[in-house]
Amino acid sequence: MKWPVHGANPQYLYDALQVDMPQQTIDYSANINPLGPPSIIKERWEELLSVIADYPDPHAAALSLKLSEQEALDPTQILVGNGGAEIISMIGRMLAGKRVMIVQPAFAEYEEACKVNGCSVEYFQLIPDGWQINVDELQGKLNDIDALFITNPNNPTGVYFSKETIKRLIEMGESADCLVIVDEAFYDFVPNYENIVPFVKDYSNLLIIRSMTKMFAIPGIRLGYIMANQKVIRNIKKYQPHWSINAIALKAGEWCLEDEAFAVKTRMLVQNEREKLLRFYHKNHFNISPTHTNFYLLQDSLMTDQRPLFLFLLERGFIPRHTMNFRGLDGDWLRFAIKSPHENFLLMEAFTKWREN
Ligand SMILES: Cc1ncc(COP(=O)(O)O)c(C=O)c1O
Repeated sequence: MKWPVHGANPQYLYDALQVDMPQQTIDYSANINPLGPPSIIKERWEELLSVIADYPDPHAAALSLKLSEQEALDPTQILVGNGGAEIISMIGRMLAGKRVMIVQPAFAEYEEACKVNGCSVEYFQLIPDGWQINVDELQGKLNDIDALFITNPNNPTGVYFSKETIKRLIEMGESADCLVIVDEAFYDFVPNYENIVPFVKDYSNLLIIRSMTKMFAIPGIRLGYIMANQKVIRNIKKYQPHWSINAIALKAGEWCLEDEAFAVKTRMLVQNEREKLLRFYHKNHFNISPTHTNFYLLQDSLMTDQRPLFLFLLERGFIPRHTMNFRGLDGDWLRFAIKSPHENFLLMEAFTKWREN
């Protein structure tokens, strides 16, 4: 059987498992802000009609400027992309033929983008229950590789690595002549995120990937960016197709950045929901990864095989993310997004039924 590579688009999952898709479903497999896009996008949507008759700015100048102000960097240290996914694919092309290491479990795109460009790929495996990174163990390995990928907070565990840990990795990478690529696609859901962007000015081996599709709930129009030393940015840009970011995404991105209260409100909502869910799961004997963000791994501690639970939920229209293609998880866990209070309540109700089953 061929498991879908990503979450979202659940019909592919139902088709692969040959399970009938119920009419009513809730998709917990994509980690998108439960509030939906900021209201400014809806309010000004009609204005977007006027931008589609022209080619978009190939340099994304206005958005880059806004981002550079937000991040206190020079616009030349930022490159906007068609989602974090395009940035990852450009990095893969830049690294063609090199040796890379991926801190696992991790988003599958790093491996795909590197392998398709002839890189050799090694893995550094994190393990339950803490899923933290043993920096000392990693140290000796950096001399043998050209680039290290790490996601912070990690996807799929939601575990957050401290600024101190990341700084040590960057410094170790610098002495080993190794790029350190930190994917911060979900950084803005972390309550006490410690900003590592200022390190871009001090370390030319640091690349930070960001996505705007999760916090601002715009995966359908695609938007992300990378921050790094000017030389790296110039190098990566060579691999970007012209006009790859459409005019709607560029404009909507600018508006999203204007709504400063949106991320704060989201973090509070997600934090409340996370605490509620974790209390429920601990009481009901489910293992949960120690997440700091808007998704978590779950395992029924009373069973070794999680597949019956997965099918039970799918048949009732609750769609978790399978973990078959996360190295080291191999289907032993299920991943869930933290959604609206009502949707989280319905999920807890489904777990209560599972326990009574
Ligand atoms: C860790 C991580 N990085 C990057 C991305 C790409 O996000 P997007 O292309 O929607 O910006 C994803 C998407 O799920 C992700 O999980």
